[in-house]
Amino acid sequence: MLKLERVSLNYGSFRALSDISLQARDGELVVLLGANGAGKSSIFRAASGLEVATGHIRFGTHELIGLRPSQIVQAGVVHCPEGRKLFPGMSVLRNLVLGAYVHRADRAGNRRRLEEIFGLFPILDQKKDDPAGSLSGGQQQMVAIGRAMMGRPRALLLDEPSLGLAPLVVRQMFEVIQQINRAGTTVLLAEQNAFAALKVAHRAYVLELGRVVLEGDSDALLRNPDIRRAYIGA
Ligand SMILES: Nc1ncnc2c1ncn2[C@@H]1O[C@H](COP(=O)(O)OP(=O)(O)O)[C@@H](O)[C@H]1O
Ligand SMILES: [Mg+2]
Repeated sequence: MLKLERVSLNYGSFRALSDISLQARDGELVVLLGANGAGKSSIFRAASGLEVATGHIRFGTHELIGLRPSQIVQAGVVHCPEGRKLFPGMSVLRNLVLGAYVHRADRAGNRRRLEEIFGLFPILDQKKDDPAGSLSGGQQQMVAIGRAMMGRPRALLLDEPSLGLAPLVVRQMFEVIQQINRAGTTVLLAEQNAFAALKVAHRAYVLELGRVVLEGDSDALLRNPDIRRAYIGA
């Protein structure tokens, strides 16, 4: 279980997160909804050790607050950041292998893992020697997810994977996310694309201005008229 308890985060004097409590149980796919600036990425940055928050972020027996990013990956929590953050001039393969940095001693394990990722994203096998920056937006997002998977997450933090992608590509992306989740990885997914995200998620939290304002099962939120008005537009 990944569990945030009363997590707060300031940037200077600006309070980006106020007393956030939420959880993703093992095997769950949980979505974070909220407008731009609500605090979704800040939650991920706190959980992956890029920002130092207060409160508790627990994963299994580990307290993540205070750990370095590499220790958090070792503990099983891997962050796939907003905007993909690839090295565009490096090959797809080199980008993927970077995600396995904390496991670099286990070369056989990394080779197996790479084959699994090529199974999930066959196009990346075909393009493994191409510069990552030459790929389409959807393919670059696959590299970003694949790189995170090379970190062997037990919990994967996926920040806006569908951003800027065409509708057909978005659908394929959500299918793969669901497939990763069904294979046993807990997924916390930040999304603007509320309808598609709620369709694949088990539960969701709605954030506004750094606070959780609503939580519930995806089905209930899909039927909620306020959610439909604010995030789905129907
Ligand atoms: N490095 C930063 N310095 C100052 N303010 C920031 C920084 N990063 C994010 N913020 C602010 O924190 C709030 C939450 O941002 P963010 O977590 O990126 O939200 P979301 O991912 O939901 O769009 C926003 O008001 C944003 O402007
Ligand atoms: Mg964000």
